Parts: sequence; C-alpha cells; structure tokens
Amino acid sequence: MPKWLQDAVFYEIYPQSFKDSNGDGIGDFDGIIEKLDYIQDLGCNAIWMNPCFDSPFHDAGYDVRDYKKTAQRYGSNEDLIRLFDEVHKRNMHILLDLVPGHTSEEHEWFRKSAERTHNEYSDRYIWTDDWFNSPEGMNYVAGESDRNGVYVLNFFKCQPALNYGFLHPDKPWQKEITDPACTATKEALKDIMRFWLDAGCDGFRVDMADSLVKKDDENKSGTSMIWQDIRQMLDESYPEAALVSEWNRPWLSIPAGFHMDFCLDWPGNCYNLLLRDAKDGRNNSFFHKESSRSVLDFFDEYLESYEKIKHKGRYCLITGNHDTIRAAHFLDVTELKLAYAFLFTMPGNPFLYYGDEIGMRYLSLPTKEGGYTRTGSRTPMQWDDTDNHGFSDAAPENLYLPVDSAEDAPTAAAQKADKDSLWHVVKDVLAIRNREEDLKENANLELLYAKKEERAFAYRRGNLLMCCNPAKEACSIEITAGQFPAGSKKIYEIGTADRNGESYVLGAQSFVIWQV
Ligand code: NOJ
Repeated sequence: MPKWLQDAVFYEIYPQSFKDSNGDGIGDFDGIIEKLDYIQDLGCNAIWMNPCFDSPFHDAGYDVRDYKKTAQRYGSNEDLIRLFDEVHKRNMHILLDLVPGHTSEEHEWFRKSAERTHNEYSDRYIWTDDWFNSPEGMNYVAGESDRNGVYVLNFFKCQPALNYGFLHPDKPWQKEITDPACTATKEALKDIMRFWLDAGCDGFRVDMADSLVKKDDENKSGTSMIWQDIRQMLDESYPEAALVSEWNRPWLSIPAGFHMDFCLDWPGNCYNLLLRDAKDGRNNSFFHKESSRSVLDFFDEYLESYEKIKHKGRYCLITGNHDTIRAAHFLDVTELKLAYAFLFTMPGNPFLYYGDEIGMRYLSLPTKEGGYTRTGSRTPMQWDDTDNHGFSDAAPENLYLPVDSAEDAPTAAAQKADKDSLWHVVKDVLAIRNREEDLKENANLELLYAKKEERAFAYRRGNLLMCCNPAKEACSIEITAGQFPAGSKKIYEIGTADRNGESYVLGAQSFVIWQV
C-alpha cells in the first residue's frame, strides 16, 4: 500500500460545483487551487476529483470522449498539472476518476468501431455479429450505425461497453479475455493511467471497477485478472499510486489488486441503514434520534466484509458522494454530528463529500447532465453570504446549478465562526483522527457493546474507546470486555457522557472518545 494512503483523509470534489474562478458559472481547476488551504485546514490531506476529461456530459463526465484531454470548462491539461503541483506543495495527494468500463459514444474509438469496414477499433467495444443476435441479459443499442450488429451498453445509452472479453465465450462474437483485441483494450487503459501518473496524479478512483468482463464472470475472476495485471504495472513502475475501487465487494476487489474499496449506499447494503433509511414516509436511519434500529443492523454485515480484508486492504465509509442523496436530507445537525464522528473514527479511510461538512441540503431539482435524482446533491458549494454563496461571480441564471436559496442555507464562513457548528465537529474529529495512530491503523476494530434491542453501542480501536448513544433518551451501558483502566481520560465529547467503573452513562444523542 502506498505510504501516503495509510493516513489519507479524502475530500471529494465534484468539479462543476466547487469553485468558479473565472465567472462562467461552473467550477474549475483554478477554483479548486484557491480552496486547497480550506480543504487542508478542515483536516483532509487527499482529494478525489470526479471526471474532468473532455466529454459531451450526458453523465456528468462519466462519458469520456478523450481520456488524455481535460474538459475545457475546467481548464487545460497544464492547469490540471498546476493543480497537481499545488496539491503536492501542501503535502496532499489527488486521485483522478478513471472510467475503464465504457466511453462516450462520441469517443474516437467508438466512432471507428461503428464503421462498416473492419479496422483497428472494430473489437474495442462489444458488438454482436448480426442484429438478430441480441446479447442476452445485457443492455444494447441497435439501429444507429452502418455496422451489422448491435453494441452492448455499460450504463446509460451514451456509454458503450469497452471490450475486455468474456470468461466463457459461447457465441462467435464473444471474445476470450486473452484475445488480442481485448488485451489491446487493457493496454489502452494502462496507457491512459501512465499518461496521468506521469503528469503527476497520485492514483485513481475507479468507476464501476467490477464491470470489465461480461456475463458469467463468476466471482469476477475475469475482471480480477485484468486488475491484477494493472496492479503489477503500478507496483513495478508507480509504487506510490493508489487504486480505489467503486465495487462495494472488498473481498473481491482487494484480492483483485485494489488498495481500497467503498462501502456504498447500494440497495440492501448496510451503509444505507446508518444515514439513509427512509421508506414509506418513515425515517428509520440509525442515527435518527427516533430510529428503532440497532447498530448491529450495520455491523453484522460490515464486520463480515471487514474481517475478510482487514490486513490486506481497506473498506472505506463515506459521508456521501455525487450519487447519493445528501445525508442532511435524512438527519438534522445533531444527528449528522454523531454520524460523522462515527464514520471518521472507523477503519478504512474517511471520504468527505464537498459540502457535507456544513450539512449542505439535498435540493429538489430537474435533472442535469444525466444526474436525475442525484442532481440535488451536486449543487454549488456554499462558501459564504456573498452572491451565489461565494461560488461564482456569474449571474444566477448562468450557474451550472442553482445555489441553495433558503434563508438559513448553511455556509462554510458562518459555521467556521460558530464553535458549535457541524463544521467544527468535522474539524475536531478529523484532527483527532490525524493525531491518533490508533485511528489510522486498519486492523484494530473491536465492537465492545451492541445489542439487538438497544440503541447505544461502543467500540475500541487500540487505546481509544468510542461510545455513542444516538437516541433521544439517556442510557447506561456496561462494558466488561476489553475494559479500560479507571484513570482513562475523555478526549472528545458530543453531548454528555460519564463512566463509573464498568458503567457508562451516555446522555441523549452523545458520542464520546476515551483514551487510556
Ligand atoms: C458510477 C458513478 O459514480 C456514476 O456517477 C456514474 O453515473 C456511473 N458510475 C456510470 O459511469
């Protein structure tokens, strides 16, 4: 694992909406440079930036038209390299977003691949050999090219699937993973990675990392072979480059070669139950003060994954991301404080989505650039009380997305000035995380207290004990296992909490850290 990654605390930037430096209504690289000190001051030392490459933007840039060229709206390749330099000057690191499974339908490779005559790119994407042969179980497009056959999609209609082959091909148009055409796709991907690593980026968050080999890829063994090969290239030539997967199956992604994977808000996943569990008008998210949930609803599933990979890689918790509904939609400020204190003191590396540090709200907006319901979580960062909340000098109607116009819309400036704000909890807890080696270590989580019928819980990491009571009533818990000596001291507290021998009295909505 790259050394810097062990201590990394990530801040995710959606470049469209972070900071506009030239008044055109959309964020840009220079705007990000302006705000690097803010990110560092908050306690984050690493950045994940969503795709910033040339694109028709039918999926916010996850439809790449040219992997080696930045989208003009954010700045030039040179501007991006300047951003890398500014990041490194501050001893920070930055991941680009790599989209390996598909391109835009406007990518030059795809245009060539759609031509009738056979050429170098004919098999760069997955095409059937005849339009009658529709690819079973896969989405596809017919009727849009001169080429005989239909092509497979990886996500939206604008995103044709790159061809990495099939584990068990059983149709003439399905290729073996080792077919030269599929190997060429993989080599092209490696070439893109080298291009940006040589330019100074520190690694990649990999979009839909599990999506390379198609159909019947049991246990993702075909896809894993490809990533293992890529990891070997990194280990040999770029040992400090990080690979973080959007996969949500760490027991598969870590052996496949990723350093880290995400615990995401996918349907049925335990992470959802912590912050975003609302069905039929009832908010039952664990950190909601009136929830009926036990933290075991999360831990039972999380620990199973964590145990499998704890010495080999990391399973990371997020406050949210560009695909999730903002947590502030489900939790009020006190609830968010407890939730973040929990997320930032858990194993894995924290990922803070821009604006979550001030509890930016989810806005109900029409879809933009393929965002659909995600659009409301992608609005401009609220810096202060100047025009457009300090995001841009453009006229409001020219903004990429509208800013939150509510009277009480949170801003970074106001929260920095208020010692009781969510922003200060984020800063304080991250400062503890950055200071305490026990919180950086990955394989040292012990769940000390959690019961099916109870709301409060406690966990230990090395010499630190964390207790949390998310409920609106005070309670008391007994911790006998993994006990702490009587002289241990409280180093952080939200709400109130006390201990008396084995008894811990936890006030309503409290979170506390004790240190031996
Ligand atoms: C996952 C990304 O996070 C999401 O925003 C995107 O739409 C899909 N992958 C397709 O690339």
